[in-house]
Amino acid sequence: MISKIEKLNIFPTPVQYSPFLSELMNTNFYFKRDDLYISGGGGSKARMLDYILSKAKSENAEYILTAGGPYSNFNRALALKANKYGLKVKLVLYDKNTHLNDKNLNKRICDYCDIEYIPCEPDNVVETIENEKNKLNYFEIKYYYIWGGGKSNEGVQAYFDCVNEIKSHIDFSPNYFVVPLGTGTTFSGLSLGCEQFMPDTKTIGISIARKRNEIVKVIDDIILDFLKANSYDLHTKSENLKDYIHDEFILGGYGKVNKEYLSFIKEITKNESTVFDDIYVGKALYGLYKLNKENKMLQNKNTVFINTGGIYNF
Ligand SMILES: Cc1ncc(COP(=O)(O)O)c(C=O)c1O
Repeated sequence: MISKIEKLNIFPTPVQYSPFLSELMNTNFYFKRDDLYISGGGGSKARMLDYILSKAKSENAEYILTAGGPYSNFNRALALKANKYGLKVKLVLYDKNTHLNDKNLNKRICDYCDIEYIPCEPDNVVETIENEKNKLNYFEIKYYYIWGGGKSNEGVQAYFDCVNEIKSHIDFSPNYFVVPLGTGTTFSGLSLGCEQFMPDTKTIGISIARKRNEIVKVIDDIILDFLKANSYDLHTKSENLKDYIHDEFILGGYGKVNKEYLSFIKEITKNESTVFDDIYVGKALYGLYKLNKENKMLQNKNTVFINTGGIYNF
């Protein structure tokens, strides 16, 4: 029987032991190398897009409509992958983070792939999307709308299935998965996947920008939507996940850093021979290190950190 994953053309990524981080955090530390995901420039959003674009294609869409900023890994992966699915992209582009360098590689790759931009001010995103939907409807153009960052049932499904992929690659039981938390899609998929495939594993989410209460509300909706659309017998609730969501390491907001963080991440980069981005993975690694230093919760445990990619923002 062909599994759902094979039908979707999902390419598994390796799980890799890190001697350096194992020693530093006194744990058995592994990376799930989703930064090496095979298409779309790699990363978690590229994995999600194989599910999302398959759905768009099954609904005969001609265009993908979405919104996001110049640093978005999701937009870059979309720009690189859409053509393969026979889809064109309209991107409502706004910039809430002008403190960052807008000449980054994600935006340059979007330019290179000739995606169509609809520029707007951060305060006008909702109206601009509605306006664009109205235009597409008026001209009877079939489109598929995706929330910024790929927040969707398909995105959740990608990481739900990913838990099963990890399970098939390892011969130990992880105590923790750890993931950078943005829209909450990856965290929700992993948490639900753990209930289904690895009930002894907990997922820790390290927020990179938003406060915990706000995230819990979003995750509540994400989980309810996913369970409504699927027939899994799962009982995970955002309420039970609250204690595994950390917002203490935001460092002032999206892409913001401090001196201590920078020296930590430089040290990790040199010792791991891998580049980590400042916005997502670097911050989550730093958060995990600080948490563990304080309460030693990883001590002698098996920890699998999901390297979700993002080096284009380096
Ligand atoms: C590299 C990377 N890691 C993690 C995240 C956060 O994932 P999620 O939005 O599913 O919470 C993002 C979101 O854009 C990302 O680009």
